[in-house]
Amino acid sequence: MSFIDLIKKRRSIRKFSDTKIDRVLIEKCLEAARLSPSACNAQPWKFIVVDNPELKEKVAHESYGLFDSFNKFTHQAPVMVVVVTEKANLTSQMGTLIKKIQYPFIDIGIAAEHFCLQAAELGLGTCMIGWFNEKPLKEILSIPKSKKVVLMIALGYPVVEKEVDKKRKSLDEMSSFDSY
Ligand SMILES: Cc1cc2nc3c(=O)[nH]c(=O)nc-3n(C[C@H](O)[C@H](O)[C@H](O)COP(=O)(O)O)c2cc1C
Repeated sequence: MSFIDLIKKRRSIRKFSDTKIDRVLIEKCLEAARLSPSACNAQPWKFIVVDNPELKEKVAHESYGLFDSFNKFTHQAPVMVVVVTEKANLTSQMGTLIKKIQYPFIDIGIAAEHFCLQAAELGLGTCMIGWFNEKPLKEILSIPKSKKVVLMIALGYPVVEKEVDKKRKSLDEMSSFDSY
């Protein structure tokens, strides 16, 4: 598969089969995330893979609120990955302070996309989840209070009903040459 075909293949999956995922495949996705670039090579992330079914249910339950159905599809995913922001190294921290750019969040976005692209190549489906209840999630997974959880990834074998075109801004809207 060419790189652009892989990019086109990856899409957010919100319907999963209940087939279990072999940890060898999950480790391949983790390896892709591990190799991703980061500001000052700080690697400010920890990926917690939740594949214990009971624990996963509890984690999925924290991806939506009491009264909304948004993200309830996470209950179908056999695996949830929770991405924790780790302390960056001193140079990256100084950069954040001086340049006022939150490099760790950029780094985590890149690493998460590496994870999802590798998953897509393996025939797995993912959906990044940025809307969740951080406090109970930390309690469930014994994540220290001082840490920030920025993202979850639902992972499983996709049930794809029909291919849909990606809705994106045009090249003209999202890019320009030589000036804004
Ligand atoms: C940081 C981030 C947070 C997201 N949070 C959610 C979420 O909470 N629930 C959800 O269903 N999709 C979520 N998504 C998926 C986006 O809706 C999706 O990527 C976008 O609509 C483009 O569709 P595609 O991924 O199928 O190409 C998130 C994506 C990103 C990158």
